[in-house]
This record gives sequence, structure tokens and C-alpha cells, in this order.
Amino acid sequence: MTSLITDTVSHVGTLDTFGRPLRDLRISVTDRCNFRCTYCMPKEVYGRGHRFLERRELLTFEEIARVAEVFVSLGTRKIRITGGEPLVRRDLERLVEQLAGLGVELTLTTNASLLAAKAPALVAAGLDRITISLDALDDATFRALNDVDFPVAQVLEGIDAAVDAGLPVKVNAVVKRGVNEDQIVPMAAYFKERGETLRFIEFMDVGHTNGWRLDDVVPAREIVAALDAEFGVEPVDPSYRGEVAQRWRYRDGSGEVGVIASVTQPFCGDCTRARLSAEGRLFTCLFAVRGSDLRALVRGGASDEELAAAVRGIWSGRSDRYSDLRSAATAGLQRVEMSYIGG
Ligand SMILES: C[S@@+](CC[C@H](N)C(=O)[O-])C[C@H]1O[C@@H](n2cnc3c(N)ncnc32)[C@H](O)[C@@H]1O
Ligand code: SF4
Repeated sequence: MTSLITDTVSHVGTLDTFGRPLRDLRISVTDRCNFRCTYCMPKEVYGRGHRFLERRELLTFEEIARVAEVFVSLGTRKIRITGGEPLVRRDLERLVEQLAGLGVELTLTTNASLLAAKAPALVAAGLDRITISLDALDDATFRALNDVDFPVAQVLEGIDAAVDAGLPVKVNAVVKRGVNEDQIVPMAAYFKERGETLRFIEFMDVGHTNGWRLDDVVPAREIVAALDAEFGVEPVDPSYRGEVAQRWRYRDGSGEVGVIASVTQPFCGDCTRARLSAEGRLFTCLFAVRGSDLRALVRGGASDEELAAAVRGIWSGRSDRYSDLRSAATAGLQRVEMSYIGG
């Protein structure tokens, strides 16, 4: 496989129909989660009766690592482990260790509920950085949002443990109108003081279960206006093509804050991300309906070269740009759920 990597990576890598390279791979390791965030896995849908994937349906760590190596051979430079909640999958550090061997940037997105105990093992296994999702500092608001009455203090402990273990931390907060917009300024103040980058994300119309309405979206420009009024912020140039967060720096020099305007200012033109579901389906857009079944190839005995040819074929035919096209006409389209595809 090493020769496959050196053979194909020397050039720009694999491009889609709009010339977008296959730079990032997000790997969902489970469709399960210990939270029921109201905007992601509402209890009415993910309560009793919901059929989650069974263990045998999930790619094993060895299968994931093999597929990831194929992506690296095609130019992927960054891998993000996600879910569902990735830390509910047992022995996740074993996967981290295998992926760390691929020599690309390796990161993880988590709700941090289980992080305090796991952070040292993740670092020892080779994790480079971590993104933590936290939508409120106010305990009552946070408990209502995760909808399993999980206390915010335990997430903050998880963040501390990641920092203590030496992991660079970013924090992502989804903002929903009338739910947690009052948390924008307090959260910014808290993470500004600590020197950790916080990014606010517009509530997105992923899936069909979260009852999304445009009225629930707090536009990024409104978030930036609130930050500017309180702290004073100025824009920072993006550090690389495809950076999804718009960066802002505090005028007092105390660090940065970001906004991800996926609804009001879509960034499909620069989207270099592929997503692998926990059962091995490849999705080329967060808003895709059907994925391509890579597990069938892996379990059917395909060689690395055959797998690479399949992925290259899928990516080079890619023409997705859902968020650019979002309109009344696309509202009724079928979409896959975020907790399944991996956020
Ligand atoms: C699906 S979660 C998976 C990883 C992990 N459980 C976590 O929460 O960090 C990944 C990210 O997707 C975000 N997310 C989920 N549903 C969303 C929505 N409707 N709009 C915007 N972001 C969403 C979450 O806030 C989280 O930051
Ligand atoms: S956002 Fe993350 S923590 Fe919340 S329900 Fe979805 S997968 Fe779970």
C-alpha cells in the first residue's frame, strides 16, 4: 500500500467535476450517542423503537483503517473521527493508533461527556487535535439542549482534561433562535479568557428529524455583530482553501473566534470533504441521500487498487453543491441524518 500512496499523491490528487480535491475524510464510527441534542437526535425519533446499526454492520477498526489508507493514497490530508458520539465506541484509541500511522492530520469531534477519562489515551495513541461541541454554559440551557439532563460541568472537565493532556482544542456551538442565542456573549467571554477558539455554527437543515425552519437560524452576521458590540472584532484572512469557519480576531489581541455560515453563506465551492458512515457508505455531501457501499467492496475481497479506483470514480463524478442551491425547491428532498453520516 505504501507504494500506492507514493505513486498517486505526488500530484494534486483526485478532483471532482468542479475541480475540488479530495482533501478531508470524516469517518463516523457509530450512529449511537449518549445525548439526544434536540437539533440532531430528537427523542421523539431516536427514542425506543429506533433501529440503530448492529455491531456486525459497523466497519471494524481494521476495515476503517484500510479504507482511510486508500483515501490518503488519493490525496486526503486530514481525517476527522466523528459519529454519533465517537467516544461511545469501545477502545476508540485503538482506531486512533491505526489512523495516526497514516501520517495525516488526525482529529476527533466529540460532545466531551466521556473525555475526562479518555483524553490521555487518545493523545498517547496519536490524536493531533480535538473539536468539542458545546452549545451553552448555562447549566439549565445545556441540560435542555442535550435532553438527557447532562451537566455542563462535566463537559468543561472534559475540555480541561484535553488541554491538560496537551491537545489543541476548538469548541463548536450550534446557535438556535430562541434557544441559546443568549449564550453567544457568555461563551465567547469564557473561551476568550481561556485562549481557546470558539466557533458558532448556524443551525442547519440536515436530515428530516430536527424540524428545521429558516426562522430558527441565527445568521452568522448577527452573531458577529453581537461579538463586535461586546468585545470588538476584526476579520482574519482564511488560512487555507476550504476553511469553513470565517475567522475573526478580538481587537484586544486576546485570540480568535469564528462563525460557520453554512446556511446564509454556503461554501460548497470549496468543499473538499468526503464522509464515511459507520457502516461503510461513502457520502460526497452532507445533504446526500444515498451513499456508495464501500463495505461491500471491502468485505467482497476488493484489492487496495480496486478500492482506490472505486473511490476515485465516485469523487471524480461528484457534482454536489446542495447548500449553494438551497431553496424552496430543495426543501422537500430526502436527506440523511447528521448523527448517521457524521457531522
Ligand atoms: C453530529 S455531531 C457528532 C460528534 C459528536 N457527537 C459531537 O456532538 O461533537 C457533530 C457536530 O454536528 C453538529 N450538528 C448536529 N446537528 C446539527 C445541525 N442541525 N446544525 C448544525 N450543526 C449540527 C453538532 O453540534 C456537532 O458539533
Ligand atoms: S450533536 Fe453529537 S452529541 Fe448531540 S445528539 Fe448529535 S451526535 Fe449526539
